[in-house]
Formats: sequence, structure tokens, C-alpha cells
Amino acid sequence: MSVSQSAVHLVNHLGHDYLRQALENDVRTGLTSTPKWLPPKWFYDAAGSDLFSQITRLPEYYPTRRELAILRREALDIATRSGADTLVELGSGTSEKTVLLLDALSSTGTLRTYTPVDVDAVTLGDAARRLAARYPGLAVQAVCADFEHHLALLPREGRRMVAFLGGTIGNLDPAAREVFLKELRGTLRSGDTFLLGADLVKDTGRLVAAYDDAAGVTAAFNRNVLHVVNRELDADFEPDAFDHVAIYDARQDWIEMRLRASRAMRVRVGGLGLTVPFAAGEEMRTEISAKFRPEGLRKELAAAGFTVNHHYTDPTGDFSLVLARA
Ligand code: SAH
Ligand code: AVI
Repeated sequence: MSVSQSAVHLVNHLGHDYLRQALENDVRTGLTSTPKWLPPKWFYDAAGSDLFSQITRLPEYYPTRRELAILRREALDIATRSGADTLVELGSGTSEKTVLLLDALSSTGTLRTYTPVDVDAVTLGDAARRLAARYPGLAVQAVCADFEHHLALLPREGRRMVAFLGGTIGNLDPAAREVFLKELRGTLRSGDTFLLGADLVKDTGRLVAAYDDAAGVTAAFNRNVLHVVNRELDADFEPDAFDHVAIYDARQDWIEMRLRASRAMRVRVGGLGLTVPFAAGEEMRTEISAKFRPEGLRKELAAAGFTVNHHYTDPTGDFSLVLARA
């Protein structure tokens, strides 16, 4: 489906049938595995995206502020090095930090097109309209798509910079990351650039606090996946019967979010004709959020055919932005 509104053009590769099928497959696979798991992309309906926005403003959640600090200082340098006329942003959400890149690309005089890409059509459409109004000469070509499946369908015109901000790369496990980076590299031409935001390994206490905030916003975000499954697949999860768990796995260098059943229960997923037993205390994984070391990032990018052009970090060394060339 394709919808055009003034300077905003929205292409949706995630029609109702596609989303339903993908959710059914993921929920059936995840809830019948041992241990159980659900993929993090299902956090992001309109309510989940709103909870994520609240997370970015929490005192414990440093990544957004750190990445913003880097962009404030370095956006012009990034824009100049990239020479891009087209900014493609994967997992763009509200595109709040993106204005710094758009401003910089406008001031260097090259910017023509912005293509935000996200699974949440509501947040994507809102952001696209907001940015089209803010940048009158900009063609905003929003694409509702899954960056793990639809990279080949993204527009290929222009000299592109693909931005993947926020540390969302860390929500892919190492095998999925390898596939994603290779696929992305395969869609780029020589001279295109990739701007990758990645959270860095740091003190475990700060990491855990960032994913287990005192106000309980991350807990609500975590439980939102159960609301999504209830609504979309006619399930009867009691979200309040699951406790939010965030632990740091120092061997893997990742935060793992889980939902722990506070008592034994059986959950009916009507849309799948499935009944799922949970033991008291049983934990279901809902997200990993990998933390990186600069050398590891460089190796992963090189293995996919990228060359690191510049590595930016904030003054505290908490977060990094890597500009890589295809
Ligand atoms: N880039 C923003 C938002 C990060 S939140 C920032 O840095 O603050 C992660 C975003 O990625 C959400 O908007 C979510 O809807 C989107 N997302 C998650 N999995 C996705 C997938 N597989 N394909 C496309 N978008 C995805
Ligand atoms: C979107 N992503 C980078 C966030 C993260 O930090 O892994 C999602 C999130 N999960 C809990 N809090 C924030």
C-alpha cells in the first residue's frame, strides 16, 4: 500500500496479513521453545513506542542523551564526510535525534530525501509528517518495514547514508547481526555510508539500572509485549502476573530482559489454538541489548565489508557512533 500526503510518501510493506502471520510464527515458535522467548520487535505498537520515548527521558537511561551529545558535537563532521543527499534511517521511531543530522546535511547543501523505516506505522507516520513540515524542501519517503527482512525493498537512489541509531543493533543476537550487516552492505554502493550507534560495555550497576528503572517504565515496556499478544492473538496473559527482570550477562556482554511468572499458570493463545503452561518462577526472554567494545564493532563491520571511516564517542565514553563506508 502507498499513501501520499503533501511531501510525505508512505510505503507499507507490513500489511495486516503479513504482520499477523509474522506474529503468529514468532509467538508459536517462542512460546513452545525451552526456555521460552519472544522477539523484541513486538514491543513496538503505539503504546510501546510511547513507553520507549518515556524510557529515553529516564535519569537511569543514559544512551539517548549520550548519543545526542555526540550528534550535537559531530553532526556537521558526519554530514561532510558522508556527502549524502539521502538519509535512510532504520528503526527511526520518533526521529527526534535525526533532526541534528538533517540540519547538518541541509547546511552542507546536499540533502534531498529522508527515508525513515520502522515497524510501528503510527509513530512512523507522525514523525514523517512532523519532519516534512519542518523541512519544506525535503522529500520524506517513509517505509513501514522490518529491517531484518525488507532491506532489499528500500529505495536505492542517491548517495545514501544509512543511520541505525540508539543502539538498536544490540537488540539483534550475534548471528542475526551478522546476517543484517551483510544484507545491508549488499544494498549499498561504494561511497554510501553507514552511521551506527552502539552502546559500549561499562559498569554493570549502571547497565542494570538503565534497564530496571526506579519508576517502573521499563517494566511496563517489557510487559507491553503481553498486551500486544493478548490483543492481536486473542491471548489471556495477565501482564501483572509477570515480574520484570533485567540481568547483565558479562560473558556475552549483553543485558537480557525477561518476564518471570510469579505463579504457575496456563495461558491460552486463542488465535493459535495453543495453551502454554508456565511454572512458578519460569522466565521468558523478551530482549537482549548487547553492549560493544570499539574493536569488536570494527571487526563485525569489516566482516560484512564495511571500513570504519571515523569512530565518535561522548566525553564519558558511554556510547559510540561509527561512520563506516561501503
Ligand atoms: N532510533 C530511535 C528509536 C529506537 S527504539 C532512537 O534511537 O531513539 C527502536 C525502534 O526500532 C522502534 O521505533 C521500533 O519500532 C523499531 N524496530 C524494532 N525492530 C524493528 C524491525 N525489525 N524493523 C524495523 N523497525 C524496528
Ligand atoms: C531500542 N533499544 C536500543 C533499546 C535498548 O536499550 O536496547 C530498547 C530498550 N529496552 C529496554 N529499554 C530500552
